[in-house]
Amino acid sequence: MDSIIVTGNGPLSGQIPIAGAKNACLTLMPATLLSEEPLTLTNAPRLSDIRTMSVLLQSLGAEVAQMQGGQVLALSSHAITNHKAEYDIVRKMRASILVLGPMLAREGHAVVSLPGGCAIGARPVDLHLKALEAMGADLELRDGYVHAKAPGGLRGGTVEFPFVSVGATENALMAATLAKGTTILKNAAREPEIVDLAQCLRKMGAQIEGEGTGTITVQGVDRLGGATHAVVPDRIELGTYMLAPAICGGEVECLGGRIDLVAAFCERLDAAGISVEETASGLKVARRNGRVRAVDVVTEPFPGFPTDLQAQMMALLTTAEGTSVLEERIFENRFMHAPELMRMGARIDVHGGTATVTGVDHLKGAPVMATDLRASVSLILAGLAAEGETIVNRVYHLDRGYERVEEKLGAVGAKIERISGQ
Ligand code: EPZ
Repeated sequence: MDSIIVTGNGPLSGQIPIAGAKNACLTLMPATLLSEEPLTLTNAPRLSDIRTMSVLLQSLGAEVAQMQGGQVLALSSHAITNHKAEYDIVRKMRASILVLGPMLAREGHAVVSLPGGCAIGARPVDLHLKALEAMGADLELRDGYVHAKAPGGLRGGTVEFPFVSVGATENALMAATLAKGTTILKNAAREPEIVDLAQCLRKMGAQIEGEGTGTITVQGVDRLGGATHAVVPDRIELGTYMLAPAICGGEVECLGGRIDLVAAFCERLDAAGISVEETASGLKVARRNGRVRAVDVVTEPFPGFPTDLQAQMMALLTTAEGTSVLEERIFENRFMHAPELMRMGARIDVHGGTATVTGVDHLKGAPVMATDLRASVSLILAGLAAEGETIVNRVYHLDRGYERVEEKLGAVGAKIERISGQ
């Protein structure tokens, strides 16, 4: 397994291009199952999770071709030839559950493996299933699989989510485009990835209003057509690279970055003493002098501070002046990076969903390991600021969500290299 070695070596300077969003692409790809006509996605990120979704879609009969080195995905689901999403693929990636809504809506039946829990929490899919039931689906859980039927097709209904779920909103939204009548999704997720999905579905002919607000209304249509759509920039990759100069000094411009995608995060950076400036081509982040100030962080659904940037923000706060309190409200077990950061000299107390971080003067490099994607990259960020060498092991998590991390950070002056394992 590959490792990444980072050696802290001072201020960074230059530009980092931001890729298309992993989590938007992972919901746009299954949208191909809604239509017989081709769907072309541009600005796709080149990540292992995208390859996993391609394999899943191909197993269902879709054609997936990568062009321009993987930045363009040409998808076509002329015929769905297999209606079972197998455990062996689904278990690798929870986003696989997003094939359920589209397949059921177009074909009237689908069998999809339950994804199971993962390192950051139990992560059930009950809200996905309840939403589809509210649209008339008949669901049965058997042998670890969801067996779903809607023989006469799905019908519109009102779905009121008890709390915000990104994935359940996406599944319900895709299913509703082909349901008979009107579907109203209440307490829907407002994440930019939902807005991106709605915009793509609309290009395919769907009738959707209200995306980006808590209530989305969908008027079902008989069929959807093809479309070409550019994937929205990855706000989590953006936030991660914005933290690089914040942590070790210097000035970096994140190309393609947009403030509307990371407003709550920028507000916290500002409070910590980091400057963020909009430029013609993105966002420029600088830490010119002095120590970062401690700030408190509470993770919330969009437009709040994203849970997917909590680990990286914690890496920044380990060397801030004062004590920061980070409250994780989305997932029950998302502080696995804390003990690893402590191996590097950070002072962190975790109690349930709250971590208290007392800033230290310096971190020290150490061998570390992480069990999820955002935790892994937080250790790389910490390594940029640490004295000496940090070896981040098990980096296959990183490759799920960050394309060419060592190249992007290396290009702005970071000392970082990948060591190939067996
Ligand atoms: C999406 O996961 C993202 N993944 C996650 O990104 C992200 O952390 C999360 O949204 C929150 O922003 C993708 O888009 C592929 P949720 P999702 O449903 O849709 C609970 C990353 O690092 N819940 O909004 O699975 C759930 O357990 C990843 O890129 C239920 O209880 O998240 C969690 O506590 C990790 N029942 C909360 O809701 C359900 O049926 C929010 O989860 C669904 C969710």
